[in-house]
Amino acid sequence: MLAVENLHVAYGQSEVIHGLDLTIAPGEIVAIMGRNGMGKTTLMKSLIGIVPSSRGTIRIADRPIETLESYQRVGAGLAYVPQGRMIFSAMTVRENIETGLTVTGETTVPDQIYELFPVLLEMKGRRGGNLSGGQQQQLAIARALASRPKVLILDEPTEGIQPSIIKEMARTLRRIRDEMGLSILVSEQVLSFALDMADRVLVIEKGQIVHESPRAGIDEEKVSAFLSV
Ligand SMILES: Nc1ncnc2c1ncn2[C@@H]1O[C@H](COP(=O)(O)OP(=O)(O)O)[C@@H](O)[C@H]1O
Ligand SMILES: [Mg+2]
Repeated sequence: MLAVENLHVAYGQSEVIHGLDLTIAPGEIVAIMGRNGMGKTTLMKSLIGIVPSSRGTIRIADRPIETLESYQRVGAGLAYVPQGRMIFSAMTVRENIETGLTVTGETTVPDQIYELFPVLLEMKGRRGGNLSGGQQQQLAIARALASRPKVLILDEPTEGIQPSIIKEMARTLRRIRDEMGLSILVSEQVLSFALDMADRVLVIEKGQIVHESPRAGIDEEKVSAFLSV
């Protein structure tokens, strides 16, 4: 569903992603793990088109998207939940979700989204800035789902979220995959969360994939060693 080949991304003269390959099957959840500064955010921004790639291909369901603008990539089926959530604080919950509708031509938020996140229905008239961190993360995911993606990418969704809510988020993301049938790529530093939700775990170091394992039979010590400083 998502196929990335030989992706190179640089900031000016400084290359950060060095020829990365990545494929995600339909309905698969892949966690990409790595310490701070290893290139997770740069990878995700280049997939959605916020940071340009200098070489390589990115395909969604066999359609090359690497030359498209971000909004066109969203139209092609890619949705992005940025690190730090980046919801619109002054807009209401409903208005925040509606910003995700622009590529579908729908004018109202699908019921399915409020079924997944009942708290957002309760709070749909509140300003985004008044929600808790966990609720803002749900809002950012809801906004991404409003574009009816084939592939959902989330950049460190557990950052700054309480452990009890992290468990629930893993369950919710699996439920989203099961009910909507989409593929998920999530970057993460919390191994327990990755093991709760992912079918496959990748480790990124200095812009390259250095380890890969299905969740079943994963060598937790080895992955932890990559994550510790
Ligand atoms: N806007 C930028 N300009 C220059 N270098 C950057 C920029 N953003 C990130 N970097 C560098 O790219 C590398 C990867 O960063 P990043 O993708 O944010 O990693 P991660 O998300 O894994 O913490 C780091 O060395 C970081 O300093
Ligand atoms: Mg990051």
